[in-house]
Amino acid sequence: MTKPRILFVDDERNILDSVRLSLRPLRNEWDMAFMPSAVEALKLMETEFFDVVVSDMRMPGMDGAQLLAEVAERSPETVRMILSGYSDQASVMRTVKLAHRYISKPCPAEELRIAISGAMRLREIIRSGALKRFVSRIESLPPLPLLYQRLMNELQDENSSLQSIGDIIGQDMAMSSSILRLVNSAFFGLPVHVSNLQHAVKLLGIETIRTLVLSIGLFSDVGKATPVGFSLEQLWAHSTRTSCFCKAIAEVERQDTRMRDDCFIAGMLHDVGKLVLVTIMPEVYGEVLTRVQGGSLHLHVAEREAFGTTHSEAGAYLLSLWGFKDAIIDAVCWHHSPEHISCAEFSPLVAVAVADYFDHDLVSINKDRKWRSNEIPNTPKDDYVARLHEWRSLCQNVFLEEV
Ligand SMILES: [Fe+2]
Ligand SMILES: [Fe+2]
Repeated sequence: MTKPRILFVDDERNILDSVRLSLRPLRNEWDMAFMPSAVEALKLMETEFFDVVVSDMRMPGMDGAQLLAEVAERSPETVRMILSGYSDQASVMRTVKLAHRYISKPCPAEELRIAISGAMRLREIIRSGALKRFVSRIESLPPLPLLYQRLMNELQDENSSLQSIGDIIGQDMAMSSSILRLVNSAFFGLPVHVSNLQHAVKLLGIETIRTLVLSIGLFSDVGKATPVGFSLEQLWAHSTRTSCFCKAIAEVERQDTRMRDDCFIAGMLHDVGKLVLVTIMPEVYGEVLTRVQGGSLHLHVAEREAFGTTHSEAGAYLLSLWGFKDAIIDAVCWHHSPEHISCAEFSPLVAVAVADYFDHDLVSINKDRKWRSNEIPNTPKDDYVARLHEWRSLCQNVFLEEV
């Protein structure tokens, strides 16, 4: 296998040198080049291909944003990352659409290594070629809902509080009532009735509430003109159940709060790519759904034939553009084929792949059918086979509480 090729661009020599030094242990894994200006970087890219470009933001002459725009144009398969300590919001926002990842300086070598390895995975997604063409056909991907962005900004403010977060969400009446209705459903298993947002944030944590704001916003942005055979309500119900199953599995596996949150987020957003496909080409998606109706053709296969990509890849791509962490992107990207991940550790991918299957199985009409663990087509790892029965009864209990 050829080594990934990474190009670092920074006008400050000492920073470039320290990156070079700190990544020296990885020289057998990656081919690395270091350039002190955007112009020189582009010149080198005329003759050499790079898998990843990691650029500083503020540079004299051509800055990081301009460089990444050029890279996007000339080498769309290259993953574009900004590594910068420059905190000017306007410039950062300008690069958001152009950079796949934004990393702030100073960045420890290990963090950089993880980010670049993640970027390599993203490149695999983009590289499926067809997705690249598909994405380039899209004039604009769904934007992050405004309320979600306001929450992100608020959370960066050190004066943010339960009160201020609750107040921001509270300004949107429809959003507030959707959240309260959802958190009071049996899925969340809360011991008390929650009647205000501050209380909801306190009980469920900001990550969960933030994910609800994002997903409710995304679902409500989808126009009503969805194709025959596609039910937004069913997808919403499936996503919320899957997220609660994921969280329950993470809890029974005694995972920490962060992992539980990641599992919840990944479960909630695992099929977000369907929203992308259905919004962009509703008629084509309608044809796809008609084709898979008989059950003999897998949705993924039909999607790939129609769009050149799948809802998993489209969703992962969107979340990577929005800066979600790798573990969540992986879970979304591979939830129908988790064998792609070699790591045997518990991860959001493990939870999502299983929870997604359980939900389809539990909701399926044929209730008399006996469930067998070896039927799961996408069992992530042999290590978890022994746990599947316990996980399934757990999800079944969560499910039965709701119905
Ligand atoms: Fe899916
Ligand atoms: Fe699903």
